[in-house]
Amino acid sequence: MLNKLKNIAAKTAVTFIKNNSIIGIGSGTTISYFIDILSTVKKNIKGVVSASKSSTEKLKKYNFNIYEINKIDKIETYFDGADEINNKMQMIKGGGGALTNEKIISGFSDLFICIIDQSKYVKNLGKLHPLPIEIIPSAKNFIIKKLLYIGAIAKLRTNVITEHGNLILDIYKLNIYDAVKTEKYINNIPGIVTVGLFTQRCADIVIIGNYNYKVSIYYK
Ligand code: 5RP
Repeated sequence: MLNKLKNIAAKTAVTFIKNNSIIGIGSGTTISYFIDILSTVKKNIKGVVSASKSSTEKLKKYNFNIYEINKIDKIETYFDGADEINNKMQMIKGGGGALTNEKIISGFSDLFICIIDQSKYVKNLGKLHPLPIEIIPSAKNFIIKKLLYIGAIAKLRTNVITEHGNLILDIYKLNIYDAVKTEKYINNIPGIVTVGLFTQRCADIVIIGNYNYKVSIYYK
């Protein structure tokens, strides 16, 4: 059921693409649907920037023009899913481990369109899905200790090395009362590359595939 909801939300998201633009593409199953749909509609885009290896492979299969991020100076719209999003458009992302690229590309984009099924829309962030953090390997024990000060119990994601050669820690069941403060505290710990809390670069538009199979669109 959730896959169907991701699919109908992705179909709506494709209609937001502007002609002749460069678009950013995130990662995950929702985005995989988005790429499939994009390949079937004749949208006149200049090309794409991709946040993950798996999205890049799929985009290559469909012969999209893929830009390297350092070769361009503007991305019009970024499309990505989320693990959780609240009514302030703040998100937890990084379930797929591509959080650093996702933060860079979304930060570089004029508009961020988040595509989700209704299960991802939450009142408080951090309860359903773990909060991922990409870290430099040598800082692991130090970071785990610093996270305990905010009541965060972090577990190493096993057998995962990121595209940047780093590790991922996941914080389970963190009650995030103040997402802005939490993002700042975690970002300030030396050795942390990225935290998967998106409060500085929130979504601008969220497209939700609802349990009744209708699509809702919210604007910031
Ligand atoms: C990957 C992400 C994804 O957007 C998030 O995990 C949602 O994935 P899915 O679309 O498979 O439910 O942030 O790093």
